[in-house]
Amino acid sequence: MNFEPIGVVHSPFPQIADMPIQPTGAQGVEGAIELAPELVEGLRDLDGFSHLIVIYHFHRAGACRLTVTPFLDARPHGVFATRAPKRPNPIGLSIVRLRRIEKNLLHIEDVDILDGTPVLDIKPYVPAFDRPDGVRSGWLEQAGEAVRSKRSDRRFE
Ligand SMILES: C[S@@+](CC[C@H](N)C(=O)[O-])C[C@H]1O[C@@H](n2cnc3c(N)ncnc32)[C@H](O)[C@@H]1O
Repeated sequence: MNFEPIGVVHSPFPQIADMPIQPTGAQGVEGAIELAPELVEGLRDLDGFSHLIVIYHFHRAGACRLTVTPFLDARPHGVFATRAPKRPNPIGLSIVRLRRIEKNLLHIEDVDILDGTPVLDIKPYVPAFDRPDGVRSGWLEQAGEAVRSKRSDRRFE
């Protein structure tokens, strides 16, 4: 498997310390995705969607850990039961608001992504596809609204 980045994220977060840990903690934070110019044709009709699923490489994540103590709990959990960046395949996923598209620049909001992050894919967020009924949130149910105010630290570098 050999993926090439399709673009790069520009965000106000040049370092991991103190940045938001999810888009719900980054409401209104502006950024952009600079798409490779040769891929612009692929943006046709994307401007009709309010939100995007952005899939990217956690390029600054350190070595993978299979058991992690995540930002929102003091207890350890299996990495696949968390959104921690240090994963066997360090891939991140954020649902961000699409503000506007100018040529190969996608202006986005609610950005919880490090500046300079390589983007692997962009898909439209579609509630009819992506919002299932009867959801349970496992150990994260006790975390409540903490995700809104919690900030990252260097543990995951
Ligand atoms: C908990 S992850 C969640 C990211 C995404 N919303 C997800 O669920 O996959 C967010 C944290 O990942 C770290 N991070 C963000 N971009 C990164 C990058 N390019 N490389 C390494 N770590 C990154 C920061 O610590 C940030 O607070």
